Amino acid sequence: MTVHHLRAAGSSLVLDARGVAASIVHWGSDLGDLDGTALAALADAVVPAVPPSSLDVPLRFALLPGLAEGWSGRPALAGHRQGRPAGGLRLVGADLQDFLTVRSATPEGDLEVLTELDLSSQGVLRVRHRLTNTGPGDFHLAGLDVRLPIPQDAAELLDFTGLWCHERQPQRTPLGHGMWSRESRHGRPGHDDAFLLMAGEPGFGFRHGRVWAVHLAWSGDKSVHAERSALGYGALGAGELLAPGEITLAEGGSYETPWLVAVFSDTGIDGLSDRLHPWIRSRNALRLPRPVVLNTWEAVYFNQDHAVLNELVDAAAAAGVERFVLDDGWFTGRRDDRRALGDWYVDAETWPDGLHPLVQRVRGAGMEFGLWVEPEMISPESALAAAHPEWILGGPDAPTWRWQRVLDLGDPGAYAYIRDRLADLLTEYDIAFLKWDHNRDLLVPGSSHRQTTAVYRLLAELKTAFPHVEIESCASGGARIDLGILELVDRFWTSDTNDPLDRQAIQRWTSVLVPPEYLGGHLGDATAHVTGRTSALGFRLATALFGSAGIEWNLTVANDAEKQLIADWIGEYKRLRPLLHTGAVVRADPADPALRLHGVVAQDRSQAVYALVATGTPRSALPPPVRFPGLDPVRSYTVRPIGAPYKAVQDAPPPWLTDGGITLPGRVLAEVGLTVPLLAPEQAALFTVDAV
Ligand code: GLA
Repeated sequence: MTVHHLRAAGSSLVLDARGVAASIVHWGSDLGDLDGTALAALADAVVPAVPPSSLDVPLRFALLPGLAEGWSGRPALAGHRQGRPAGGLRLVGADLQDFLTVRSATPEGDLEVLTELDLSSQGVLRVRHRLTNTGPGDFHLAGLDVRLPIPQDAAELLDFTGLWCHERQPQRTPLGHGMWSRESRHGRPGHDDAFLLMAGEPGFGFRHGRVWAVHLAWSGDKSVHAERSALGYGALGAGELLAPGEITLAEGGSYETPWLVAVFSDTGIDGLSDRLHPWIRSRNALRLPRPVVLNTWEAVYFNQDHAVLNELVDAAAAAGVERFVLDDGWFTGRRDDRRALGDWYVDAETWPDGLHPLVQRVRGAGMEFGLWVEPEMISPESALAAAHPEWILGGPDAPTWRWQRVLDLGDPGAYAYIRDRLADLLTEYDIAFLKWDHNRDLLVPGSSHRQTTAVYRLLAELKTAFPHVEIESCASGGARIDLGILELVDRFWTSDTNDPLDRQAIQRWTSVLVPPEYLGGHLGDATAHVTGRTSALGFRLATALFGSAGIEWNLTVANDAEKQLIADWIGEYKRLRPLLHTGAVVRADPADPALRLHGVVAQDRSQAVYALVATGTPRSALPPPVRFPGLDPVRSYTVRPIGAPYKAVQDAPPPWLTDGGITLPGRVLAEVGLTVPLLAPEQAALFTVDAV
């Protein structure tokens, strides 16, 4: 038994495996190279005193905290065997190989927990528990959470809430005594998903402050929480939210928690992305370059008229689009959103020759073809529901949502039907991409675990059988964006709103966790369909540039000047995407919230691209110079304007702009900054920065 130390990328985790229960004595900044003696001294140094009116022995924050050690906060493990609650878990042993494993068991030996703690070279910590029922009879699991300690100076929380078309709205709150638990019972993370729960030094920003953050890599019900006890202990944690009876372990049976993904940064929120993005990129070998997409949804909705679609194919190809995605409306009887989900056969009336003519036209124009599906759903008005009412989750009387019910993928018959339909489509047509939608909550108690594991299995099976097919996770926009499903998909539909003003905020916050190349962002109509707000083309283009870019607009109605700007933008995107999709995402802490600067800096800091965005009217007529974060302080860089024209409220632009650029050391750009154009509200200016 010893004290173990995991170290990587500026962070350390120290686990004391010497006592009755394992405890994490440090998770935070890198402590340097410590030998066994120093580690033991460190663990001894933080053994607490015994306060009045408490247990007679020091209470340490255990890896699996529970009542047995005197922890009266939320227990890591809850459950019972024949009405007898699970006992305390004692340390059996710990072993550090490539990652750290800790074995714990009840004194009676009827439950065992294997905990894995893996700190990646990029500084991302993953922790999960595997519980095994080693006793007689069934064990009924109520919950098993992963908890990590946070210090007292992590006193401010930042997480997210949201609505349809309004995902990833940040909310800050002080962490007092008690529990802040963000619970999803949607059967998917939901538009209001907590997403990434951060606890930091009060006032932490994008570029400053120490921050601890957790995310649960899981697409079903969950609780993500922060807790501080009156003793002073604080923790971040998460686990699947289980309904009573949802998980029963037979003798010998096991349950594995989803991975808790945890990151520490001493340089604010950007420091979290600096660790998360390279780690995600190293695991999920996304195919680059990310193609420019055209999606038909807001261009034609359900009106899949051949002549219009053919024209759209030609316009897309002419503009430089690389992937044409046929959205909802192509399958039997699907004329609106009230019917036909489940009947995954090409509609013979709209498509008498199947999708072949369209696919051929798309392929002939040099583009890939993609198709929308919503495999986990069933319309009451469908041939499938008539034939198999028993496949409806919650039964045929379950409430409808967007006029649809959920297909019970835990039913082997329903699972096989859907898998075979999708496999047949992928075999018959040259399909490179599926937009995989999920447009409602499950709302059936106890169904989340089974349904979520089934959809993971289905995605994995299709990925294995059709390795060339990419899949996009969409759930009425961004209601299923998490690192569980990201193991199996290649793109997220970030939000159903293509309004650039909404998108600025949604993309800024979603990309704290998910690298931009996974986040679909489309150029929409001038007047956004969802909000009715009209935005300048330059603002829409500058917004959609930072992500997996595409178009969701009937290009055929664009005038020649617009078409030219769009083609130029696609050219710029193609030139910049090697940088945009591999670099470090940076966001300046705004001096004025109406003026935002964000960008992407190459990993070797040789180049960068930044967007200055006016989300409203700045507070002062002459905003302070804008500082450019993330550059190498000792190298010199030339800053140049690029992109479509924007509206500025100035009689004369800053002189350096009229000269076409300026060269300054990175330190000056970061510390002093640069006078920028006086943007009118809802305008954006783009700059490239190249080392000289
Ligand atoms: C959902 C998606 C949209 C679109 C429609 C089609 O709302 O989020 O992008 O695909 O379904 O019905």
